[in-house]
Amino acid sequence: MVFRQQMQAKVEEIEEILKKALPQEKSLQQTIFKAMEYSVMAGGKRLRPMLMKESFELFGGKQRDALYCFMAAIEMIHTYSLVHDDLPAMDNDDYRRGRETTHKVFGEDMGILAGDALLNFAYEKALAGIEKMEDAGCGVRALQILARKAGVYGMVGGQVVDVELTGKPLTEEQLGFIYRLKTGALLEAALMTGSVLAGAAQEDVLRMEQIGQNVGMAFQIQDDILDVTSTTQELGKPVGSDAKNEKTTYVALYGMEAARKAVEEYSGKALAALETLSVKSPYLNALIKSMIHRKK
Ligand code: FPP
Ligand code: MG
Repeated sequence: MVFRQQMQAKVEEIEEILKKALPQEKSLQQTIFKAMEYSVMAGGKRLRPMLMKESFELFGGKQRDALYCFMAAIEMIHTYSLVHDDLPAMDNDDYRRGRETTHKVFGEDMGILAGDALLNFAYEKALAGIEKMEDAGCGVRALQILARKAGVYGMVGGQVVDVELTGKPLTEEQLGFIYRLKTGALLEAALMTGSVLAGAAQEDVLRMEQIGQNVGMAFQIQDDILDVTSTTQELGKPVGSDAKNEKTTYVALYGMEAARKAVEEYSGKALAALETLSVKSPYLNALIKSMIHRKK
């Protein structure tokens, strides 16, 4: 099967897992269930659960039921971050993944609550996954990584600095800090938790972190490039959002040429680190390569 078809099949499998993981019942708090479903089932590339699963398979993981809970958890955390990032108090964006943002459809109050709900539900799911495991210790370690990488030492920390420094000129160090935390941390978590759930050795988990960090930098710089070069239709979200929000990006600091080179370099580092593992994953290799040229 060619890579694109493989990827499509994997996305469909992930969407099934996500659908099943969301609250199903009818109840008085129905609105929040709808807002959660609207936000999570809006499309999206499903990269984080995909990376988690590939990493799990790479290290010969067996307990898929627990993995599926963690895959749902990381996509819920990612989705909450997008829902909150789009709020009027942050980037104030009306479109995401080709449709109106959660707060535009459900109101700002429900937008905030949908993010809160997804974040909490993610941890409920991950804990339910741990309960299913024979070696719960691995599950606890995976959850520690997920929580830390999503929180103040990871994604939230990066977002704080991003918000605080918006409209100000950034040093290379500040930009790197924001990208590593805001975007990189959750990608690191995806690769690390997959390997931890599979029972991988600590040195391999650290190598997955390294790969995630490089993938994260490449991914965010490509995001900056697409914000300038793509179209709203292709991206499913407004282009020129960085300029509108006075964001200093890699492209703004160093120019398009350097940005493209940086994406190649960081991706190259990720691929080189992947090569050093004793286990091989042609799909993961192709996935990282595909991110260099991604159009959305
Ligand atoms: C797009 O992911 C997201 C990023 C490039 C990361 C940006 C970081 C934030 C928005 C952090 C916000 C944090 C808080 C705490 C509000 P993607 O291209 O994989 O999106 P997709 O799932 O729609 O494909
Ligand atoms: Mg933002």
